[in-house]
This record gives sequence, structure tokens and C-alpha cells, in this order.
Amino acid sequence: MIHPVALRFEASDPAALDAREGRLALIVPAEGKLGPMGRKLDRLTRGAVKRALASEAWGKVKAADSLELGFPGGLACEALSLVKLDRKVDEDTARKAGASIAKGLGEKGALVVAEGHPRAAAIAFGLALRAYRFDYHSEEKPPFGPVTLMVTNPEAVAAEAAPHAALAEGVFFTRDLVNAPANILTTDDFAARLAAMQELGLEVEILEEDDLARLGFRALLAVGQGSESPSKVVVMRWNGGAPDAAPLALVGKGVCFDSGGISIKPAAGMEEMTMDMGGAAVVSGVMRTLALRKARANVVGLVGLVENMPDGRAQRPGDIVKSLKGDTIEVINTDAEGRMVLADVLWYAQEQFEPAAVIDLATLTGAIIVALGHDHAGLFTNDETFSGHVLEAAKAVGEGVWPMPLTPSYDPLIKSRLADIKNTGGRWAGSITAAAFLKRFVRDEVPWCHIDIAGVALPPGETALAPKGATGWGVMTLDRLIRTKFEG
Ligand code: BES
Ligand code: MN
Ligand code: ZN
Repeated sequence: MIHPVALRFEASDPAALDAREGRLALIVPAEGKLGPMGRKLDRLTRGAVKRALASEAWGKVKAADSLELGFPGGLACEALSLVKLDRKVDEDTARKAGASIAKGLGEKGALVVAEGHPRAAAIAFGLALRAYRFDYHSEEKPPFGPVTLMVTNPEAVAAEAAPHAALAEGVFFTRDLVNAPANILTTDDFAARLAAMQELGLEVEILEEDDLARLGFRALLAVGQGSESPSKVVVMRWNGGAPDAAPLALVGKGVCFDSGGISIKPAAGMEEMTMDMGGAAVVSGVMRTLALRKARANVVGLVGLVENMPDGRAQRPGDIVKSLKGDTIEVINTDAEGRMVLADVLWYAQEQFEPAAVIDLATLTGAIIVALGHDHAGLFTNDETFSGHVLEAAKAVGEGVWPMPLTPSYDPLIKSRLADIKNTGGRWAGSITAAAFLKRFVRDEVPWCHIDIAGVALPPGETALAPKGATGWGVMTLDRLIRTKFEG
């Protein structure tokens, strides 16, 4: 677990170029026009830079990608990357350019020449997000060396980049949680990591099993009753807004391990279910960011932390439980546990905090991966104006999310003969019937979005801004939504 990378912004200094070890990166527009530092690099390499920029290979480089010159003569560096990035690019492309530089980053760090580029701060942010490592190898790698960005106006760029530090820390907090295995990230450990955020000024309240039983979280407790790890709900409050302003409520599914329970999952791939607390991790990462950047908004984050295990006390298929709301649920499949956890936490969030809006995030269904793969999360809503704001925020930060239907026509699929509803809706439209289940636990008048992140929380390979492993998908979107729609 080595992060974050130390970033510095400095004014252009031609003298620093030839002696620079590690990696050097030069931001160049597609047509290849060089600034003073670029021309100096070209002179030092006896024209290698201009030759590279005139080559066919440069023509094939995509925006935000780079052409590598290994051990270029005249320079002490290991590699000089020519990064293709026009001046007029959106933030997302600039972040990707920074991330492509981070891929080759090692202990010697890097020098990035971004003179005059209007997106220097975004380049730095992308670099910071991609410079993340997480593993439990006993042989530790040396940390990333510092990265210096040479820019035209270092003070202005540093000021623009400052809020990104809080955001990157939130994203990394989420990734660390999602990447951690279930023997390490138990419900106790998860709650302890959240309690530690009180130091940042967050109010953190932990509801333990006896509290939950007293309050009536029977659906959530039913999921956790087959595990040795105690079920918990953690409530994090950030009150940076007007004292009378209703908060935004963020609700996360925190299944620290999902074995399926008595409806046990097949062995192949079961190890991936250590990421089933991904929704809770995003909520936690956002709360951390809000506290770090002292957001001027009221936000309450609630996570339901449980482990879904089979044992003598585990819930069975056929069990009927009464939710906190009072609706009865027939448990058809104990592997459809996330919706039972969320049902109670969603209801509690509304009863306790009367929120202006609610967003829940959950690695809820395999079906959303069938529908959307790993590029987009699925978005379900009861309020298209509100979901429009969420989609807008996601677009601005470059996180994929796509609207899914949630018409009442799906409701009959989760009708139960014995109870008010059942927890599965059969073979078809699995993500939608899961969302239809959740909808029952949201008041009609409360704007609500459900985001199924099963495909995007831990995709099978690296992404533009993350190495293979957890992405932290959603932290940037929610931070952006809060910044643009909930802060004064
Ligand atoms: N945690 C899973 C969903 C999931 C699958 C997340 C793959 C990430 C990757 C969820 O609890 C689950 O098991 N859902 C079932 C529901 C079914 C039993 C109705 C599913 O998707 O198969
Ligand atoms: Mn499950
Ligand atoms: Zn699950």
C-alpha cells in the first residue's frame, strides 16, 4: 500500500532537464509544436524529439497517450515520453494524459514539462490517481519518487490542484477498502476505520447489533446472522452547510464477504466477493473527501456492514422477515442479500434524517455486468431531474453511468404469495427487479438514485485512472454532485 505520490509545481527551468534521472515527460500538442523547454530537450537530444514528432509512430499515438524514447542520448533520464495533448482538451482527457505518465513511474519519480498547458492541474490529478499500488507482497517495493510539473504559473496551478488532494485521498480510501480481503477488512475493522475519521471532524456513530435489534433492522440482521462478524450500521455526518438545510443521504451496501449464504455461490470466482462492500467504500471515501476539503454542505453517509455466511444460525431460503419499514420479505435466495441490507438502511436514513435526496450505491447484481459490462454503472431513479444531475456530474468527471428503466411494470415480478415481497424476481431483468425491491423502501416524495456498481468497482483489468484492482468509481461523481448542487 504505497501512496500518494508527492507532487510539486515549479516554474520552467531548462537547467533541470539534462541532469534529470527517472522519467521525463513532455506534453506536446498533436501537431508537434514545441515551447522553449521542448526546444531545449530537442537540442539536448540532438534533434531526436523533433524526429520523433515527425514520425509515423507519433501520428498513430492517440490523444493522452505517449511515444516513448528510451535512454535518449544527451539526457540522464531512463525514458522521455512525448505525451500527445492539445491545449484545448477536456479535463477528462488531461487526467488520462497524466495517468499515462504515472504508469511508468518508479522510485526515481518524474519530471513533467507542461509549460503553458491550461490543464496542468488536471494532468497532475490524473497522474496522482494512477500512481496507486496495493498488495500484500512481503517484499515491499520502494515508494514512488516525487513528481515535479514544470508549468508557466506554478502558484496558480498549485491553487487549482489543491482541492484534488482531498479527492484523491477519498478515492484511495475507497480503493484500499475494496482491495482489502475479508479476513482483514472485517465488519469491526471497517467500522474502526470509519470511527478514525472523527479526527477529520466527521461525526461517526456506530450502531451495534443490540442497537440494530432494538431499532428493528431485522432484514439487515437476518443477512448477518450466519457470520461470526457482528453486523453494524455506521452513520457518518458532515455538517458543513446551513444548520437548517436538509442533508443529502448516501447509503452503501457493505457486505464484507458474500459467500451467498445457504444459497452458496460456486467456488470459482468466489474470492471476488471480498469487494461486495464496494458501495459502503464509496460512501466512506466521499465522506472523507468532504471532511478533508471542508465542504459547505450537509451530507450523511450510512453504511450497512455485514458478512453473508452459511452456518447453523444463517437465514434459510423460505424464511420470512419483517423489515424495519414493516414490510415482510420472503427470502427466496440468501444470495440476494444486498437488497435486504439496503432496505433497512434506506428506511432508517429517511426516518432519521429527512434527507433532501438519497443516493444508494451497491455491488448489487451480476445482471448489471451482463447488461453494461465494466464501463458503466447502472442508474435507477424515481426522479429524473435528480438523476439528471447525477448523470451530469458523472459525465463531467469521466465516470461511466447509464440510466436503466424502473417502471412499475416490473413490480409484479417481486410479489410474494406469503409476504409483501420476495427478494428475487426470477431470471430476467435481475438488476431492475433488485432496484424495484429497493424502491419499496424509498418514500415517493424523496428524490432517489440507486447506482449498481457491481461492474465498475473492481473491473478485470486496469482502467485509465487506476491500476488493476479497485477503481474508487463514484467518489469523483458524488463529490462533483455535492460541489455543484449542494454547496452554497
Ligand atoms: N454481490 C452480488 C452481486 C455481484 C455479482 C457483485 C458479481 C459483483 C460481482 C449479489 O449479492 C448477488 O449475489 N446477486 C445475485 C442475485 C440473485 C441471487 C437474484 C446475482 O446477481 O446473481
Ligand atoms: Mn449475494
Ligand atoms: Zn452481494
